[in-house]
Amino acid sequence: MSDNDKKEPQTIGHAIDGIEEYDNPLPGWWLLMFYGAIIFSVIYWFLYPSWFGKGYLGWSQISQYEEEVKQAKILYPEKVVSINDFIGKDEFINKGKEIFAQNCASCHGPEGKGLVGPNLTDNVWIHGGKPEEIFNTITKGVTAKGMPTWGPVLGKEKVALVGAFVYSLSHDSQGNLLPSAKQQVVASIVKEDKIIDLNKVIGNPEHIAKGKEIFTQNCVSCHGPEGKGLVGPNLTDSVWIHGGKPENIRDTITKGVAAKGMPTWGPILGSEKIADVTAFVYSLSNK
Ligand code: HEC
Ligand code: HEC
Repeated sequence: MSDNDKKEPQTIGHAIDGIEEYDNPLPGWWLLMFYGAIIFSVIYWFLYPSWFGKGYLGWSQISQYEEEVKQAKILYPEKVVSINDFIGKDEFINKGKEIFAQNCASCHGPEGKGLVGPNLTDNVWIHGGKPEEIFNTITKGVTAKGMPTWGPVLGKEKVALVGAFVYSLSHDSQGNLLPSAKQQVVASIVKEDKIIDLNKVIGNPEHIAKGKEIFTQNCVSCHGPEGKGLVGPNLTDSVWIHGGKPENIRDTITKGVAAKGMPTWGPILGSEKIADVTAFVYSLSNK
């Protein structure tokens, strides 16, 4: 019997369909893993977020995500595109030219001289002609006037490229106004092609005297008898809203600043009188 007892393993006493369950001890390796897993899970509860709160390591999905984003930003720094990086550089301007041909020529003409959209080769700007202003106008568009919003369509870089091209239509690589753009300011408003060479009238007493008469007749009501300012600003100081170079002064007088109450004198006076009055205004602060 005792021999039999040793050979016959114990059963736990119940049988299903004749199959009995032995009462063997659990294998050591299994138990080790079992208790190991319990210990691991308890440690895990304390270290990581669980019902004990955030956990000692302070780990969270959000902090992990933020950490990864931080790393990625170091590895792949975001390219800050500025139109100024492209201005005056032929390789970029040529890229901008292609973008222009595909997207803009339909309204601004193949050479940017204007069709439905305005001429971009002169220096008459509705929304400003500085590089950043051009960039902004293209990005935001002027939907009320039919200029599409290009920012989401092209993305920053392409807008900057095409902006650099637009700028190049009126400026050389040093940022100086092209002679063609200068002439068109006056010519497009005055509607006569006679452009007076300002160098010949600035500082010339005869022209300044003529300019003074024109000023007395047309300008004193707003700029005061001596040009010291009334409704319009003081023209005798060195503070200029629209630039104090002779060309700036001529262009401001020619175009006017309709929104601020400065009339558009181009069609009223014509280019010759404008040049004379420019010489006079210039003489007020450049003696
Ligand atoms: C569907 C016609 C249309 C297309 C296409 C178009 N424009 Fe225009 N754009 C206009 C109109 C119209 C205006 C004038 C808005 C106003 O009067 O305020 C304008 C104004 C501008 C101005 C401002 C000019 C100023 O005097 O301040 C710039 C710069 C300009 N567009 C550049 C572009 C560029 C670059 C593209 C191509 C990416 C483009 N436009 C495509 C119609 C268009
Ligand atoms: C109805 C009033 C009015 C008359 C008339 C007028 N101006 Fe002006 N002018 C203004 C105002 C207002 C401004 C300021 C525009 C602005 O704030 O952008 C101005 C600006 C100017 C500027 C630019 C000043 C600057 O700081 O950049 C010049 C130059 C100028 N006027 C010259 C003239 C001349 C020359 C005449 C006569 C031919 C004239 N103005 C007649 C109201 C007038």
